Amino acid sequence: MEPSSAPPCRMCVPRLGLLLAVSLLTAWIPTTVAQLTVEPVPPDAAEGMDVLLLVYNLPENSPVYLWYKGETADPNRLIATYVTSLGNTAPGPAYSARDRILSNGSLLIQNVTLEDTGNYTIQAMNILYVPSEASAQFRVYPKLPEPHITSNQSQPVEGEDSVAFTCEPEIQNITYLWWIHGQRLPETTDRLQLSPDNRTLTVLSVTRNDTGPYECGVSNPGNTARSDPFSMNVSYGPDAPTISPPDLYYCSGANLSLFCHAVSDPPAQYSWLVNGRLQQATQELLVPNVSVNNSGSYTCHVNNSITGLNRITVENITVFGPVAQPAIRVINTTVLERDRLVLTCLTDDAGISIRWIFNSQSLNLTARTRLSPGNSTLNIYPVMKVDEGEYQCEAFHLNCSSKSDPLWMTVKDNPEPESSDLLPGAIAGIVIGVVAGVALIAVLAYFLYCSKTGRASDQRHLTEYKPSASNHSQGRSDSSPEKVDEVTYSSLIFNAQQPKQPTPASLSPRATETVYSEVKRK
Ligand SMILES: *[C@@H]1O[C@H](CO)[C@@H](O)[C@H](O)[C@H]1NC(C)=O
Ligand SMILES: *[C@@H]1O[C@H](CO)[C@@H](O)[C@H](O)[C@H]1NC(C)=O
Ligand SMILES: *[C@@H]1O[C@H](CO)[C@@H](O)[C@H](O)[C@H]1NC(C)=O
Ligand SMILES: *[C@@H]1O[C@H](CO)[C@@H](O)[C@H](O)[C@H]1NC(C)=O
Ligand SMILES: *[C@@H]1O[C@H](CO)[C@@H](O)[C@H](O)[C@H]1NC(C)=O
Ligand SMILES: *[C@@H]1O[C@H](CO)[C@@H](O)[C@H](O)[C@H]1NC(C)=O
Ligand SMILES: *[C@@H]1O[C@H](CO)[C@@H](O)[C@H](O)[C@H]1NC(C)=O
Ligand SMILES: *[C@@H]1O[C@H](CO)[C@@H](O)[C@H](O)[C@H]1NC(C)=O
Ligand SMILES: *[C@@H]1O[C@H](CO)[C@@H](O)[C@H](O)[C@H]1NC(C)=O
Repeated sequence: MEPSSAPPCRMCVPRLGLLLAVSLLTAWIPTTVAQLTVEPVPPDAAEGMDVLLLVYNLPENSPVYLWYKGETADPNRLIATYVTSLGNTAPGPAYSARDRILSNGSLLIQNVTLEDTGNYTIQAMNILYVPSEASAQFRVYPKLPEPHITSNQSQPVEGEDSVAFTCEPEIQNITYLWWIHGQRLPETTDRLQLSPDNRTLTVLSVTRNDTGPYECGVSNPGNTARSDPFSMNVSYGPDAPTISPPDLYYCSGANLSLFCHAVSDPPAQYSWLVNGRLQQATQELLVPNVSVNNSGSYTCHVNNSITGLNRITVENITVFGPVAQPAIRVINTTVLERDRLVLTCLTDDAGISIRWIFNSQSLNLTARTRLSPGNSTLNIYPVMKVDEGEYQCEAFHLNCSSKSDPLWMTVKDNPEPESSDLLPGAIAGIVIGVVAGVALIAVLAYFLYCSKTGRASDQRHLTEYKPSASNHSQGRSDSSPEKVDEVTYSSLIFNAQQPKQPTPASLSPRATETVYSEVKRK
């Protein structure tokens, strides 16, 4: 800028003034940068609540603040003046006993009314008595009463009725809300419908699962009120009844006790029919000491007087006649240790099943026990001391049974043979050796004979070699093939016996011995 060409100094003064103002302004900025503001808490209130108008960024050491109703600092609508140094409130024309200015500048309005809705303005002086202003507004909404639910049908029937729930009372300009099982009602489904104002909820074609509870709510921005839970009393059923126990077969002499149950609300009425004839109108049917005559169809009939529905379940029950008592046949009730014990169960009933009982418990099968097909013969070999005790056989058909009288079997000691007993064994060994030698010679002779004659009677060999272990008494005419036959037979027996005797090793030689002596006897 050129001073020579500078205009008259008249212009310099405002310029200086502007400069001063700018510098003053910049000096002010740090204190005014934080704007005075008011925040209503809550901005939407219900009648009777307290509202706090919170003030932020009051001027430092502000000596006085004034609260006005309205958007401006209108002296006619002054609520109160607060003098910091005195800590007291001087009421204005718009003052109410519910208004209280706090030391930090905030205004507390207690127990607000609908008329309190509107704007509020604070005017706060700084230390130089330069005022600053801020406004805020809040709304007060009517306090909502607790709503309640009414239903247009007190006892709807499942699958038949639709029910309309209405939330009372009716209030303008509020929102109605619904909860089922405590869950906010989502969008309406095909069975749940809301009226346009949401005040009426309709449940179409109710089911037993629609009993609720239901709750309704009324809401405005200031508050929400929720009704007490409301449950619907849906009548349903009866469903098909169940009969317990489900057994269809009984033994004569048993007590028949049939219990019927059907899901139903209100509870079903029960009655029993036997072979189509009304027996009694009870839930439980008792027929003591049944006989074959009591076989037949047992029908449980259920009825619901409200739904008017009837259902039945039929059970065809068969009563079996008494099972004849079986008997045990035995040759001798005393057996020697290591001998064979054979018991036979005798029963007149055809097609009946048999099981064995030892010392009042189900007989344990061991490797020494063998049962005939159908279980009628019990065979224990070799008998041991532990086999002594009480035997019973039981004839049974499904769950009907009859036990034989108990039979006590004694197992007598049979001391293990001493070392002198080896002698018969040795003799047997020698005999076997001799027999085997003779047999070998016979076989050789036979083969020689066969090769000489030049024809092999394979077919005959096959038949004779066939292991007919059980066919002891089969007669034989040929003298030379018989010996062969005997040797083969004895070895077959031996092989057959050996795996079936997983008894202590000491017993094996004796078993073999017996077999060989049998062969010898032949
Ligand atoms: C003013 O004081 C009240 C009551 O003590 C308090 O609730 C409020 O938060 C204070 N205001 C500010 C802006 O901190
Ligand atoms: C709130 O105000 C109502 C009238 O507006 C009054 O009936 C009620 O007693 C007041 N409640 C309290 C707690 O001051
Ligand atoms: C209850 O309201 C539902 C839905 O509007 C209607 O279908 C039903 O017939 C009403 N029941 C009675 C008893 O009025
Ligand atoms: C409901 O709201 C409408 C507009 O929003 C208003 O004109 C009417 O006066 C209100 N009614 C009530 C009872 O508040
Ligand atoms: C009714 O409720 C639904 C949600 O359930 C909402 O979207 C809708 O605006 C409500 N209508 C009224 C009139 O309140
Ligand atoms: C009721 O609900 C149960 C389980 O949620 C379901 O198995 C049954 O089918 C429902 N009954 C009806 C009548 O809707
Ligand atoms: C049948 O019931 C009678 C008494 O009611 C009872 O003495 C008897 O032992 C019962 N019979 C059977 C097999 O349970
Ligand atoms: C059960 O009935 C039979 C005939 O059916 C009879 O002989 C027996 O004494 C009855 N038993 C009881 C306990 O009533
Ligand atoms: C079975 O019924 C017949 C006639 O109904 C009767 O004479 C007979 O005594 C009954 N038998 C038993 C075991 O109750």
